[in-house]
Amino acid sequence: MVRPFCRSPHQLHHCHADISSHPSTMLPANFFFFILVIVIIALATIAPPVSAERYDYSTANLSTRWVNNAAALQHSVGYSDGSAVRAIVLRSPKTFYGPSYAAGFFCSPPCDAFLFAVYIVYTNSGAGITMTTTGIPQVVWSANRARPVRENATLELTYNGNLVLSDADGSLVWSSGSSGRSVAGMEITDTGNLVLFDQRNVTVWQSFDHPTDTLLPGQSLMEGMKLRANSTTTNSTENRVYMAVQPDGLFAYVESTPPQLYYSHSVNTNKSGKDPTKVTFTNGSLSIFVQSTQPSNISLPQASSTQYMRLEFDGHLRLYEWSNTGAKWTVVSDVIKVFPDDCAFPMACGKYGICTGGQCTCPLQSNSSLSYFKPVDERKANLGCSPLTPISCQEMRSHQLLALTDASYFDVSHTILNATNRDDCKQSCLKNCSCRAVMFRYGQNDSDGTCFSVSEVFSLQTIQPEALHYNSSAYLKVQLSPSASASTANKTKAILGATISAILILVLAITVITLYVQRRKYQEIDEEIDFEPLPGMPVRFSYEKLRECTKDFSKKLGEGGFGSVFEGEIGEERVAVKRLESAKQGKKEFLAEVETIGSIEHINLVRLIGFCAEKSNRLLVYEYMPRGSLDRWIYYRYNNDPLDWCTRCRIIMDIAKGLCYLHEECRRKIAHLDIKPQNILLDEKFNAKLADFGLSKLIDRDQSKVVTVMRGTPGYLAPEWLTSQITEKVDVYSFGVVLLEIICGRKNIDISQPEESVQLINLLREKAKDNVLIDIIDKKSTDMVSHHQEEVIKMLKLAMWCLQNESSRRPSMSMVVKVLEGAVSVENCLDYSFANANSVISAQDNPSTYSAPPSASILSGPR
Ligand SMILES: *[C@@H]1O[C@H](CO)[C@@H](O)[C@H](O)[C@H]1NC(C)=O
Ligand SMILES: *[C@@H]1O[C@H](CO)[C@@H](O)[C@H](O)[C@H]1NC(C)=O
Ligand SMILES: *[C@@H]1O[C@H](CO)[C@@H](O)[C@H](O)[C@H]1NC(C)=O
Ligand SMILES: *[C@@H]1O[C@H](CO)[C@@H](O)[C@H](O)[C@H]1NC(C)=O
Repeated sequence: MVRPFCRSPHQLHHCHADISSHPSTMLPANFFFFILVIVIIALATIAPPVSAERYDYSTANLSTRWVNNAAALQHSVGYSDGSAVRAIVLRSPKTFYGPSYAAGFFCSPPCDAFLFAVYIVYTNSGAGITMTTTGIPQVVWSANRARPVRENATLELTYNGNLVLSDADGSLVWSSGSSGRSVAGMEITDTGNLVLFDQRNVTVWQSFDHPTDTLLPGQSLMEGMKLRANSTTTNSTENRVYMAVQPDGLFAYVESTPPQLYYSHSVNTNKSGKDPTKVTFTNGSLSIFVQSTQPSNISLPQASSTQYMRLEFDGHLRLYEWSNTGAKWTVVSDVIKVFPDDCAFPMACGKYGICTGGQCTCPLQSNSSLSYFKPVDERKANLGCSPLTPISCQEMRSHQLLALTDASYFDVSHTILNATNRDDCKQSCLKNCSCRAVMFRYGQNDSDGTCFSVSEVFSLQTIQPEALHYNSSAYLKVQLSPSASASTANKTKAILGATISAILILVLAITVITLYVQRRKYQEIDEEIDFEPLPGMPVRFSYEKLRECTKDFSKKLGEGGFGSVFEGEIGEERVAVKRLESAKQGKKEFLAEVETIGSIEHINLVRLIGFCAEKSNRLLVYEYMPRGSLDRWIYYRYNNDPLDWCTRCRIIMDIAKGLCYLHEECRRKIAHLDIKPQNILLDEKFNAKLADFGLSKLIDRDQSKVVTVMRGTPGYLAPEWLTSQITEKVDVYSFGVVLLEIICGRKNIDISQPEESVQLINLLREKAKDNVLIDIIDKKSTDMVSHHQEEVIKMLKLAMWCLQNESSRRPSMSMVVKVLEGAVSVENCLDYSFANANSVISAQDNPSTYSAPPSASILSGPR
């Protein structure tokens, strides 16, 4: 099976012939081999291993069978990420140590399914047969990615020249289909091509002709061939993104009916020629050869080491290069560019996701809190959104179009010709059930616009019409929920019934009912109708029910500025019921606010489950947060152990994400205006969620100076409260204070401290100027100073950035999240003269009272 006498890759081509078919040459070859072995042994004994003979296992002969079993295959290596290779043919690297090609079995973690694949592994030619565990193997070709095999599957190079992969139960999984074509052996070449060759060393079959998702230098994609991405890096099932070579160039699509085009590099040419078009990957360029004209080149960085190019599940074609210094693979180029930016990749934000400067959101109805879409995964916005109600062709009458202005779509190839104005465009989509969205691009006047339709909606982009010189809107088809329409019908019946019985009662019992009672009753019904239950909206509870579930408001969890919070149980679920005291708001205003709060849903925001508005009672039902509010933990109110650094970091990240969502991801910008540890609640696993949107006021995206009455809590108030120039940046300031408190383990204003350190922010200013920030880190913490000092200091710098006096110099919350994720670093030139304004405020108020000002709105979350 192995040919240990092929000494260098350059000589390999002379070694292919199967020696068993030339018995006359056997003796000299064996003799030569014998001499060589002696020479190797001699060298090995007198010289260090560096000069040892290069191994070569790059070829294999007919009638060989390999079993996928670590014990049976000698080149079996497990890697630190959990993947493993069991190589069958293996090339020695060009340099002593380095990346080289091998073919054999491969598994990605958890390593229970195997591919027969070509991969690049880091090998050590001096050691001969071992591969070191540096460098995770990179699969560049595989035979069976749609159908992985198990342990003990077999690969056989049959006597008649067929390469056959069978699973452990003997079922045929894949074959090269080359039987009977006088194959003499199999080789992995030094360019990573797995080749079956015949007696005359002519290629009969090669992996380069059957590309999967990767191109190697020297490899060509011929007209008709496709690169097709894997779904994810660990799951090798085929994805819907592919790249195809067509007669007029290179194109990339996402599969759908019909396919949607997201990238094209077309080359104009005379249609007369017959040469097939091909795309070749060489050192420095990806060249598109069309009809023997000059190739059209996409230039690439020059290779300084081994490279490969892979089409990935997100639609990007990335060029990777082995970095000897970093001993890892790095992306050196994003080969295909889409217009105007990366948002024009179909998977930029997943299905139905809207991409704005790389940020993903779900489509929302403007001027309404109604939502038709929800994120597939709250924590990963780029995975896209799914409709709350799937579109059904049986109920086309409840189809509607959700309008998104200034939105466009990557694929504009499916034009509906007879719809040149907006209304025709929309109508044509509503009439055709397989249309899922239309995009309308405005023309110069009313009837020369262009209408594009799609049968499946991938990522949308927001556009800036001024920059692109065109206006475009998208209309997404949504299905009104059948339950909603059904319940409307039911409601109509109910109203009808109620009216009839009311009349009957009036007729039958005229004397009993007083005019006053009647009026009350009608009012009650009216208001019930005002508030139609919406899907995903908070549930309306009766007062009686809430009294029952809180055992007559017996277990008090806490008391806030607006009322008390009680523990309760609804069904199996533990809840926190907040009873608002001295409710002045009318029912309508209250319902409107409930609707707003109920529509805001995020993993880092405390969820509103339901409410009650009966007579003068106003109650809110929230999800129960078992570990209470953050202040108790960071100020050691429970005499608890100090939180470890990791938990503190997670809490900070959670708060940042919750705020980022309120500020930037909701269609309507929401400022919280009262960020403080008391309003940050913790669940069982110390996940933090923001509570109390009571002080939130919707800030219109275009306006900043909306809030005129001072709100919030002393100690956390940004300096601009004095000047009334209020934007959501006040939350960034308060976030900075909270961050500081989490790290320092104390309140910002703590009158139990010695006079000079009552105000933490003053202390921060002094320590920052003297460059001894380490002094203010929580003394009770065991791991922050000893193990994470550098990270903690970085975190303090982030806090200082958030505490900048001038609101425009503070980062946005999305920037904060990026810093926390390590993608961006904190701005360098920070102003250390924090927040004199706070001293003013704290001098006016008694700093030890933390009740919110009476002007605040009455809605607030649990404490
Ligand atoms: C196309 O053909 C015409 C005439 O045969 C020739 O002049 C022209 O250069 C060709 N164009 C290309 C791009 O080859
Ligand atoms: C690629 O080309 C550059 C410039 O010609 C050369 O320096 C480099 O060594 C080449 N890389 C490889 C891997 O051949
Ligand atoms: C319906 O819409 C789909 C997707 O946009 C399109 O492919 C198809 O041609 C349309 N059918 C008709 C009859 O217009
Ligand atoms: C886009 O629409 C806006 C407002 O409707 C209009 O003022 C502007 O001129 C339009 N731009 C283009 C390029 O049509």
